[in-house]
Amino acid sequence: MSSTQIETTVHDVEKLNPEIVVPDLEHASEMWRIAKHTEVLDLNTSYAYLVYCRDFARTSRVALDGDDAVGFVMGHVRPERPHHLFIWQVAVDESHRGQGLAGRMLDELYADVAASNDIHSLETTITDDNEASQRLFGSFARRWQDAAMTVDPLFEPAHFPDGHGAERLYEIGPITLPEGFDAASEAREPIGTRA
Ligand SMILES: CC(C)(COP(=O)(O)OP(=O)(O)OC[C@H]1O[C@@H](n2cnc3c(N)ncnc32)[C@H](O)[C@@H]1OP(=O)(O)O)[C@@H](O)C(=O)NCCC(=O)NCCS
Repeated sequence: MSSTQIETTVHDVEKLNPEIVVPDLEHASEMWRIAKHTEVLDLNTSYAYLVYCRDFARTSRVALDGDDAVGFVMGHVRPERPHHLFIWQVAVDESHRGQGLAGRMLDELYADVAASNDIHSLETTITDDNEASQRLFGSFARRWQDAAMTVDPLFEPAHFPDGHGAERLYEIGPITLPEGFDAASEAREPIGTRA
């Protein structure tokens, strides 16, 4: 095998298996770009992505294919409900969709945050027309102990000034981690799927 072939093979593996890391300020503009290209997500200001990369980096993740950001998840622990991790946005670049990357980002983030905090539930909001997102969070719940998932009204069209559709609250949990759960040694796997 030539060195070019080896390089190509290594690159292909990385592409299938991007590294998932805590974002820093350098990733914020890439997150903004990925969100913009989805043409589905509400595009926040570029400033908002910077704030998340500074103040909520520990509860957010970015997926890197080499030096390129190809996906992100941004979230925070709700001050009013400190056991709940709220996921604001998840996005994967079109080039990397359908490979389980969004699910992996959620799993790794949840494992890390739940292991180091007293987190037992995950929340997000989804519009009725976003089937991909409904499937993504439904399969997260199944992987994590087949956790209960409730769907309730939250933000109604009347709450928005711009004709935005209703955002329903999806709440997944409680998920009980075993005593001494360590995200690193557990290889960030959902606890419901281990033998
Ligand atoms: C939603 C999104 C993040 C999924 O990324 P992804 O890496 O392709 O998702 P995964 O490969 O991890 O798939 C997760 C689950 O969702 C399902 N899914 C993914 N895309 C789907 C689609 N377009 N339609 C139906 N189901 C879909 C997968 O089949 C999988 O379900 P399974 O585990 O039961 O097999 C990506 O399509 C995206 O960026 N969309 C635009 C932004 C968006 O809508 N974000 C969510 C709201 S914040």
